[in-house]
Amino acid sequence: MLSPQITVRAHTNIALVKYWGKENQDLIIPMNGSLSLTLDHFYTDTSVQFDSNLKNDIFSLNGNIQNNLQVSKFLDIVRKKANIKLFARIDSVNHVPSTAGLASSASAYAALAAAASKAAGLNLNRQDLSKLARKGSGSACRSIYGGFVEWVKGYDDDSSYAVPIEEELDWEIGMLVAMVNRNEKKVSSRAGMQGVVETSPFYSAWVKSVNNDLINIKDAIKKRDFKLIGEITESNALRMHSLNLSATPHFNYFEPMSLEIMQAVEKIREEQNILCYYTLDAGPNVKILCQQKDAAIIKNELSQKFSNIEFEFAKPGPGIKYLNK
Ligand code: PMV
Repeated sequence: MLSPQITVRAHTNIALVKYWGKENQDLIIPMNGSLSLTLDHFYTDTSVQFDSNLKNDIFSLNGNIQNNLQVSKFLDIVRKKANIKLFARIDSVNHVPSTAGLASSASAYAALAAAASKAAGLNLNRQDLSKLARKGSGSACRSIYGGFVEWVKGYDDDSSYAVPIEEELDWEIGMLVAMVNRNEKKVSSRAGMQGVVETSPFYSAWVKSVNNDLINIKDAIKKRDFKLIGEITESNALRMHSLNLSATPHFNYFEPMSLEIMQAVEKIREEQNILCYYTLDAGPNVKILCQQKDAAIIKNELSQKFSNIEFEFAKPGPGIKYLNK
């Protein structure tokens, strides 16, 4: 027996207000809500087909067969929901530099959740897809939607999911991504966030401050106050990274070049009066939130200073799309 082959495209998202810590590690319930921007430039295409001839799941990423237990564990959730026992062939093509803090797991699990559930015969709505994607990787629950997206914290499996704040953005903004390093990250987000929850003396202050950030950034989005969105984005990222510095053992995702780019962004803002703000995730790449009209000037300025670094500009992107039907 062969299921239909379903192919889904999901775009990555970058959090402006970060998720950094779990209340429930099995279900991936976060300690706080978060808010992101989905990007058009970075995405994952994933095809899934269940096949009674298979003796195990076969997962290929960019054409190479992988030995990835996480993917099979995730498919077990889908199989249980759909009440099937078949293994699947999963083909993923990632248009995101893997594991370099560009949240490739977000687009990967959003695409996998949508493709696998449909191939298994489940007809999930986007809220249920968001809950399912969350169990692959927390940030993936936000990639179901486009534009500005909030992950409502919730308290159990059923109440923790993303909601769109504004999917079709009529706003010329975007992110300039500085590819500082495409290599594997030093500390996985899973291990990093658990370390700070357990050991950072500042963790409860973080949770409190994020709740304020969320209220303020949603208000700023409504009012189209780009400056305020940028200020919240940058300070929220720095607070997240200061948790890492305050953990035992301490760790960080910065490379010298990340710090240099952060300083250069501040300088462009101060000296040229251009609104641009940085954020970093679980890796050294710097993402610069800016308005589209300024992107070329900022890119030009930074490319001159950092000639061996690649900069890629991404506009707001859409939610998941089924590519074959
Ligand atoms: O979804 P994960 O487990 O890859 O964690 C993502 C964590 C951050 O990217 C640092 C923040 C976020 O909200 O996306």
